[in-house]
Amino acid sequence: MHLGRACRGAGVCAACRVKVLAGREHVAPPTPEEVRLARRRRLAPDERYACQAHVTGDVTVTTSYW
Ligand code: FES
Repeated sequence: MHLGRACRGAGVCAACRVKVLAGREHVAPPTPEEVRLARRRRLAPDERYACQAHVTGDVTVTTSYW
């Protein structure tokens, strides 16, 4: 599956917004850039920006445009 990435990972478009369904323990805490973007775009607690999130293991995500 492909993720949206209109800003190509610059952290400004929110196109890569995903809901984490499983494996949250394998996703590093949000970077300051992701926290800033999340505040501006009202990110839900179970959502992350794929271009900003550092993943260390298996994670299951979904998004509204799949
Ligand atoms: S690709 Fe634009 S915020 Fe992630």
